[in-house]
Amino acid sequence: PVRVRMVVGNWKMHGSLALCREMVPAMASIAHPAAALVLCPPAPYLGEVTRLATGSQVQCCAQNVADAHGGALTGEWSAGMLADLGCRYAIVGHSERRRHYHESDHLVAAKAQACLEAHVVPIVCVGESWIEHQTGQTEAILQHQLGTLLALSGWRGLIIAYEPVWAIGTGVAARPETIEAAHRFIRSRFAARDPVAGNNMTVLYGGSVNASNAANLFALPDVDGALVGSASLQSDALMQIYTAA
Ligand code: G3H
Repeated sequence: PVRVRMVVGNWKMHGSLALCREMVPAMASIAHPAAALVLCPPAPYLGEVTRLATGSQVQCCAQNVADAHGGALTGEWSAGMLADLGCRYAIVGHSERRRHYHESDHLVAAKAQACLEAHVVPIVCVGESWIEHQTGQTEAILQHQLGTLLALSGWRGLIIAYEPVWAIGTGVAARPETIEAAHRFIRSRFAARDPVAGNNMTVLYGGSVNASNAANLFALPDVDGALVGSASLQSDALMQIYTAA
């Protein structure tokens, strides 16, 4: 793998066709060859975002994907369908999916595997809850979540997003030293398996990243970029975060 500077905007279940038509051209107009800009609209808008982004630096990403390549699975879509569309990335295992849709580490790993097989890059979310953070279990939780991923033969092709669940949607990001320590730990788990690959893994931070704190976060040595939620719904905020990367 190669470490990539990256800003990923996850709209979650927000946005509209109008927002796609405003946001993609606005982001495509910024000249910033050093960093990738990836937009994750809700699934019904993936086609429109992919079409609008064609030929620009903007990339498209799904917020979820199935663990199977096809079948009688109403409501699901496969990684192969994303690849067919020209959508190169998929978020896998976001904490909202783990919590509200009961996605287990095992299912998350199976979804990541399906992506790897279809040449879609999985952006796999890991992170601890507030109570786990408070009781000093962060590394144990990360170790467990990463263990299932390290069992995949293609783990070198993953992008990891560290999202402490307690910092998501609060307006207050985790402290820089907390983020750097978690990222260093995540990288060390991969590096223990393969030092070169581990050091080259792309590790993003997510949790209340905004236009004011982005530059400080991107200055941390083990932070390669951000997974941005609410701030990614405003063109000017996302533009500022992207240019800070
Ligand atoms: O996927 C994005 C994260 O859950 C962060 O969301 O920036 O609104 O805290 P947030």
